[in-house]
Amino acid sequence: MRVAIFDTHQFDRESLVRANSTSGHDLVFLEVRLNLSTYTLAAGCQAVCVFVNDTVDAGVLRALAQLGVRLVALRCAGFNNVDLAAAQQCGIAVVRVPEYSPHAIAEHAVALLLALDRKLIRATARVRDGNFSLDGLVGFDLFGKTVGVLGTGKIGATFARIMRGFGCRVLGWDLHHNPELERDHVLVYQSLNEVLESSDILSLHIPLNSDTRHIVGAEAISRMKPGVVLINTGRGALIDTPALVEALKSGKVGAAGLDVYEEEEGVFFVDHSGEVLADEQLAWLLMCPNVLVTSHQAFLTKEALEKISSTTLDSITSIESQISGLAEKSIADQRVLLVGLG
Ligand code: NAI
Repeated sequence: MRVAIFDTHQFDRESLVRANSTSGHDLVFLEVRLNLSTYTLAAGCQAVCVFVNDTVDAGVLRALAQLGVRLVALRCAGFNNVDLAAAQQCGIAVVRVPEYSPHAIAEHAVALLLALDRKLIRATARVRDGNFSLDGLVGFDLFGKTVGVLGTGKIGATFARIMRGFGCRVLGWDLHHNPELERDHVLVYQSLNEVLESSDILSLHIPLNSDTRHIVGAEAISRMKPGVVLINTGRGALIDTPALVEALKSGKVGAAGLDVYEEEEGVFFVDHSGEVLADEQLAWLLMCPNVLVTSHQAFLTKEALEKISSTTLDSITSIESQISGLAEKSIADQRVLLVGLG
């Protein structure tokens, strides 16, 4: 199948090329993101492959369908950027990578937490400058602290197990409880308000949808303990950023580790180092000594990239054989969001 791969970078291109050596698809690598101005680059392709910040709304899907595109393959787990109803109407199949390495994201959340707690970025900058003083670098023990995990799916559960290893008390909140986590004494489930009110550290691992957008806003923050440490590796819009900025100014939120940002589209994944940052809110966050921002890189491990590439190409092969009538039965597993062959 000829596949237009939007928003590619050196890191994912290499692993896709390696994985394709056994799949044999015709991969067209494009650096631009998919949107209404760029979709024509998929002309002649039966599939497009996209990432977290590509636009896959109704307009783009209709335009792709007219070009003959039959499949959208997401190189990620979250699919909040895809209009599934529109894809169904257009007869476009949608696949994703439901799981690649929950460890990659959970471990990055822990890295953000440890770097903030022990002030590693400031400490490194200081000693590089010949300043070996310790004033202002006091952290806290993780042992014995209460950690709230919002979303105890694959990543949240992995994060919870790591935090138990540090000797933390872990509280979980999720629509669907995972009995294994309680049976293994990893965490105790509580209501959202109880978790918000009792946690010293809060980490977000729920997907972004209409119920969870801005779940951490002024009201939720007002319930939190003073000085709470907030970690977000989920999606930027889980947090109402202006409310977070106010809470950082007042000291209500003691520190924030953000791998995702509400307005990250057009900023993250791109080198803007020679430009003035137009996003004043992000510029303010980057200035704060108690805020650590990474550019949506929690997934970025060798193991995760390999799994993303192999799953994506396998899914493309399966859908291709269905489209051409070679498959005896359609694939139906967590990868397939929509078969879309109607
Ligand atoms: P998952 O599907 O295994 O877990 C999500 C959990 O959230 C589930 O247990 C589900 O019941 C719960 N949930 C969903 N809606 C909810 C609601 N309204 N209220 C309460 N709980 C709700 O997903 P996984 O793999 O753990 O990923 C979580 C999120 O992490 C993804 O949706 C994605 O947005 C983000 N992510 C971020 C990455 C990064 O590089 N920063 C990479 C991969 C995922």
